[in-house]
Amino acid sequence: MPRRCTQALLKCDHINKVSWLALAVAALLGPKPSACGPPPGPRPNILLLMADDLGIGDVGCYGNTTIRTPNIDRLAADGVRLTQHLAAAPVCTPSRAAFLTGRYPLRSGMVSSQGHRVLRWTAVSGGLPPSEITFAKILKDRGYTTGLIGKWHLGLNCASSNDHCHHPLNHGFDYFYGMPFSMMADCERWGLSEKRAVLERRLGICSQLVALAALTLTIGKLTHLIPASWTLVIWSTVVCLLLFSTSCVVGALIAHADCFLMRNHSITEQPMRSQRTTPLMLQEVSSFVKRNKQGPFLLFMSFLHVHTPLVTTENFRGRSPHGLYGDNTEEMDWMVGQILDTLDTEGLTNSTLVYFTSDHGGSLEAQSGNNQYGGWNGIYKGGKGMGGWEGGIRVPGIFRWPGVLPAGHVVHEPTSLMDVFPTVVQLAGGQVPQDRVVDGRDLLALLRGTAAHSDHEFLMHYCESFLHAARWHQRDRGAVWKVHFATPVFQPDGAGACYGQVVCPCSGDGVTQHDPPLLFDLSRDPSEAHALTPDTEPSFHRVVETVARAVAAHRRTLSPVPLQLDAADNTWKPWLQPCCGRFPFCWCDRDADPR
Ligand SMILES: *[C@@H]1O[C@H](CO)[C@@H](O)[C@H](O)[C@H]1NC(C)=O
Ligand SMILES: *[C@@H]1O[C@H](CO)[C@@H](O)[C@H](O)[C@H]1NC(C)=O
Ligand SMILES: *[C@@H]1O[C@H](CO)[C@@H](O)[C@H](O)[C@H]1NC(C)=O
Repeated sequence: MPRRCTQALLKCDHINKVSWLALAVAALLGPKPSACGPPPGPRPNILLLMADDLGIGDVGCYGNTTIRTPNIDRLAADGVRLTQHLAAAPVCTPSRAAFLTGRYPLRSGMVSSQGHRVLRWTAVSGGLPPSEITFAKILKDRGYTTGLIGKWHLGLNCASSNDHCHHPLNHGFDYFYGMPFSMMADCERWGLSEKRAVLERRLGICSQLVALAALTLTIGKLTHLIPASWTLVIWSTVVCLLLFSTSCVVGALIAHADCFLMRNHSITEQPMRSQRTTPLMLQEVSSFVKRNKQGPFLLFMSFLHVHTPLVTTENFRGRSPHGLYGDNTEEMDWMVGQILDTLDTEGLTNSTLVYFTSDHGGSLEAQSGNNQYGGWNGIYKGGKGMGGWEGGIRVPGIFRWPGVLPAGHVVHEPTSLMDVFPTVVQLAGGQVPQDRVVDGRDLLALLRGTAAHSDHEFLMHYCESFLHAARWHQRDRGAVWKVHFATPVFQPDGAGACYGQVVCPCSGDGVTQHDPPLLFDLSRDPSEAHALTPDTEPSFHRVVETVARAVAAHRRTLSPVPLQLDAADNTWKPWLQPCCGRFPFCWCDRDADPR
């Protein structure tokens, strides 16, 4: 039954490529897509757990022996573990857009061509276009109660500070509690800041220049060498002081602008008190599950962990052998345990499909001195921000549904975070949209062990709007080829990362173009250590040509759309700034302390 459904759904995916005549014939001969119902038994609740910036090498069941993640490991032991689970992008905003829509982020325009990797402020006009269809929207239409708790980072407003055109409640979620933006180091005035350090540096240089000018004028005036007026001297001093004090408060301003919490359409805490968020989020998950235990529900728990500044409660500080990063990871694992316990207590374990993943690989650049503040990607090369190298995109992927999915099953086939879209839509008895290309593929048969191969023969690996690599799973040979067209230039050379920058760039001087492309066989060389050549690999040319044809076919399915992450829609606009209270004094705290 599930197998037939998969095929019927695949037919739906291709509808736009088939003529109406052929469709009519197919409708007469084959099963109608609408005949494709949910699998036997009642529809499951769906609980999606997504970590932020967690590396595949940070998790026990993926080979880490020193970090303790017993709850994630338990999920894998009771369910299915995917070893080649791939994010559609190596940074938050595009990866999450692809996850929610089942489509490469370039299709929704959730990428930049100008070096802006993610949405940069809450008060930008870019975001997931309202015309995109998320799985939440389809499940809501199919009678599911849908909730999002935690991080969003897919935009908020279009034209005014409260039109909420990109808000989760406008994308199929019935309930939202969390950050419309993202956790960042700036929320806590932390060392490894994303934005504050840059702004402070610029303001600092300006104020130093003005101070120098003021000093020169004063000396010139006193020595009668420069005919300056005292007014000019006083004004330049005032400007200097203003710039200097702005650079001092800029961190606080960023925290007010971006680090706040909302419940549905209202701001509850601005700026947020980071230390309270862990118990608040857990309380929210528990009350959502209890409110909706009659089901069916879809809950997307989008963790603020393990993004810098690694806000960790006292109980977990200093517990792991891997510093604050390890402590934060162990705390997140504990949260996973608390959430699974809630399901158990409510008797929902067997009727709930649970999924765990990370939005992309761990950040290698998040380091200060010898201290590691970013994730570990195990044997895989590269990390967060790198579109082609495996470490940026290969992430944990675990599904558990007792009694339906075989416990302890491991799948080595290539799968994508985009596959969650058709999988949950199918389970809910819905249909994937037929008026657009959906890149994800239904995973149910693979997870149940009734299909040997995933439906992905090729996968594209983008860095912003630039195609950096492509993967070909040559099933008859069991090979997984990876072809790199461009790779980041590491700083320093050979360091394996771009130290001194937040992430590696995707274009321009920051990358090396490869012609002929670099070729690896991941099935023999998962660490991408030995590039193959026509001398070492007899099928070199055939593989490169096959992949080039697949890339050309993929490109023909793309249609031009406005890029939401380009500067026009990704620049701070004061009139879009959400504000609790009276602008510019955005300050409120409306939630009681967690129990
Ligand atoms: C486990 O994870 C930590 C934290 O990222 C990392 O430093 C360490 O190297 C990992 N250990 C193994 C054996 O993978
Ligand atoms: C959030 O919004 C949903 C639907 O708009 C509504 O049913 C729910 O009661 C709201 N919850 C809160 C706490 O405001
Ligand atoms: C849940 O499913 C498992 C595996 O099929 C089964 O052993 C267990 O008895 C079920 N639990 C309940 C409460 O039905």
